[in-house]
Amino acid sequence: MIKLSALAIIFLVLVSTATTAIVPGTYFDRFFFIIFENTNFDAATQNSYLKSLISRNNSVFLSSYSGIAHPSQPNYISTIYGSTAGITDDGVHDVDGNNLIDLLEAKGISWKAYMQDYPGNCFTGAKSGLYVRKHNPFISMTDISSNSARCANIVNADGIDTDLASQEGLPQFSYYVPNLQNDGHDTGLDFAMNWFQPWFEERLKNPNFANGTLFFITFDEDETLSNHIFSSLLGTPVTSGTHEDTTQYTHNSVLKTLIDNWNLGSLGRNDVNATAFTQFLQHP
Ligand SMILES: *[C@@H]1O[C@H](CO)[C@@H](O)[C@H](O)[C@H]1NC(C)=O
Ligand SMILES: *[C@@H]1O[C@H](CO)[C@@H](O)[C@H](O)[C@H]1NC(C)=O
Ligand SMILES: *[C@@H]1O[C@H](CO)[C@@H](O)[C@H](O)[C@H]1NC(C)=O
Repeated sequence: MIKLSALAIIFLVLVSTATTAIVPGTYFDRFFFIIFENTNFDAATQNSYLKSLISRNNSVFLSSYSGIAHPSQPNYISTIYGSTAGITDDGVHDVDGNNLIDLLEAKGISWKAYMQDYPGNCFTGAKSGLYVRKHNPFISMTDISSNSARCANIVNADGIDTDLASQEGLPQFSYYVPNLQNDGHDTGLDFAMNWFQPWFEERLKNPNFANGTLFFITFDEDETLSNHIFSSLLGTPVTSGTHEDTTQYTHNSVLKTLIDNWNLGSLGRNDVNATAFTQFLQHP
């Protein structure tokens, strides 16, 4: 009996010290990023599920948001690097220099990259089943790919449900990339939203997912020269009401929003002059 309760106390102490403290942000404490593929702005605004997301309470429709380049990869790279790193194609590239993860880790902010169908174990190959490296900017950062602890934060997306049920909960920064079918790349927008709607709605009911989280839903690029894409925000960090923000944003704005939220400093690239989409945000 005595031995058991001593063990129980040791166990409780271990569990509580293992729990990472949340680093409070100015506007939100958690940010969940999800990105879909190759959809023109007009097509996205006709989709019934996306329409419903931007008509909810605590939502912002970012109606003047643009991708940065064609094809896919430089858009993904920009979201965490603050520039395309000179990449103009979907090939395998290794990018040196600081990126968002350096800024987050310096402040003790937890992060994970959830990649559907990612084989794990720091896989650096271009493709595995429906997973493609060109949609995973994290593995192209040499200070992540060469660091086993960091690399271990690039995970198969299925792990998110285990994380939601764990003591630690959802990381403060989560970057979710659906596979080539669920992101619409090989299938189109209707297929992608038919996957996303039940997946997202089910998890929104879970306070470990939704409580205090700012959700950012975007596309990598459109299929025209304008590169005008659909993006939206949702969650309790958005002020009451349904908002449209017509400010011009790009994928550099994601980085700038995270930097402003947690006072992360700067990467010294296009993040410096990007505009953060904080206009309708207020800490819940
Ligand atoms: C949501 O988070 C706040 C602040 O962390 C906490 O006080 C509240 O109990 C949470 N609500 C639910 C439903 O988990
Ligand atoms: C919208 O959400 C806020 C909480 O952020 C709540 O106070 C308000 O009553 C809601 N408005 C509607 C119309 O549901
Ligand atoms: C940001 O804007 C300032 C002032 O216009 C300019 O001097 C600087 O070069 C810009 N920085 C970047 C990284 O574009």
